[in-house]
Amino acid sequence: MEKLVVKGGKKLFGTADVPAAKNALLPIIAAAYMLDGESCIKQCPQLSDIFASRDIINSTGSTAFIHNGDFSVIYSDSQIYEIPQELCSTMRSSVLYLAPMLYRRGKAAIYMPGGCRIGKRPVDIHIDGLCRMGARAECDDEKIVLTAEDGLKGVTYKLRIPSVGATQTLIMAAATAKGITVLKNCAREPEIVDLARFLNRAGAKITGAGKNEIIIRGVSSLSGVEYTPVPDRIFAATILSAVNACGGMCRIRNYPVEYMEYFEKILRRTGLVSLHFSDSAFVFKAADIAADINIHTGYYPAFSTDMGPLLSAAMVNNSGTLNMYETVFENRFSYSTEFEKLGMCCKVEGRNYIQKRKKEVYTANLTAKDLRAGAAAVVAALAKKGCFTIDNIGYIDRGYEKIEDVFSSLGADIRRVSVGRQETDETE
Ligand code: UD1
Repeated sequence: MEKLVVKGGKKLFGTADVPAAKNALLPIIAAAYMLDGESCIKQCPQLSDIFASRDIINSTGSTAFIHNGDFSVIYSDSQIYEIPQELCSTMRSSVLYLAPMLYRRGKAAIYMPGGCRIGKRPVDIHIDGLCRMGARAECDDEKIVLTAEDGLKGVTYKLRIPSVGATQTLIMAAATAKGITVLKNCAREPEIVDLARFLNRAGAKITGAGKNEIIIRGVSSLSGVEYTPVPDRIFAATILSAVNACGGMCRIRNYPVEYMEYFEKILRRTGLVSLHFSDSAFVFKAADIAADINIHTGYYPAFSTDMGPLLSAAMVNNSGTLNMYETVFENRFSYSTEFEKLGMCCKVEGRNYIQKRKKEVYTANLTAKDLRAGAAAVVAALAKKGCFTIDNIGYIDRGYEKIEDVFSSLGADIRRVSVGRQETDETE
């Protein structure tokens, strides 16, 4: 067991490089399973969800490996159509293998996927859409088995809600289905556009990604490609929130400027300045401006639900009030108990969250309650003068490669220790 030890209160200076987006990589790696020959996904960070994706592909008889930041997939035929339960339970994105598996084997079986505990996360739209395209489903509380021996066929299908994952599943399914598929009420996240771009590079015929309606003309096969996914906008938001909360000046390289406008606009009201030049953003805290922020999270282009915890962290030293309404998940504010330990006053009422600075606290043991809640706890601890620990950091490792190295390189005092060693340190 490991934890992070943070001595907070230092301003941040230096350069951070934004890696490829985890949320783009996971569906792209699943889609690479549909490509003949070899595919190579570049700039791939070492994340536990990426290792889980590698293990899923290897469990099906194909080959996936990571070398020098390149994720390679070499497809091989086999009879295996089921993903082992221990792999499905490690991450939600195991559901993204349903469509690729159906294309390759005519049958797909997964166990109910795991992931962050941010609320109920059903997969009914994935299954309903695939069934509308001709798959037969047998599901119980534990397992989903889909069959489509003769392949899938194009249909017009309206998603009940614009689910990111379900849009990705149905794009993949339609890419090699017979005929034309029209998907309505689609998610419009940048990672959807990136998946379509990847598949089109491999020979698919997808138009409209990034809009409500996506039209896909099925093709009979796809060919292996080399591809660099979009930069991670949530990682970029993590650095912005840290500079806002800690102060200082940083360069953020490989910055996805077109997706950061909303987050930057809010932080500007609290005194953050950002300048864009070439592939970078130069951000600095010019002033501490008390600001009351009212925001609703939502589906893109609305304010990202994943950025909500980071906005909370960005505000820990602001004397204004943050009032956030979460529209996507039921349990997004698990970090509120941890922020209370840092002297914040946090009120959660259903999907509404109100945060205000209350008192100074100089030590606390925090827990990462989920991936983004964990990142928010790290940023908040960095911003507070005192010594803090964060445990349960396996969640953070799902989305950040060595978060302690990211912030150490910006001058923060943060290190990872094993729990045994941490106890020794504390007695010294
Ligand atoms: C993706 C992101 C996640 C982000 C979320 C919303 C990845 C790997 N993860 O998750 O970081 O927080 O988008 O932007 O890209 N739903 C159903 N039935 C379904 C599918 C979804 O009811 O079949 C509901 C979910 O319970 C949730 C909402 O739809 O309340 C949004 O989920 P969805 O957009 O699918 O999120 P993910 O793809 O899981």
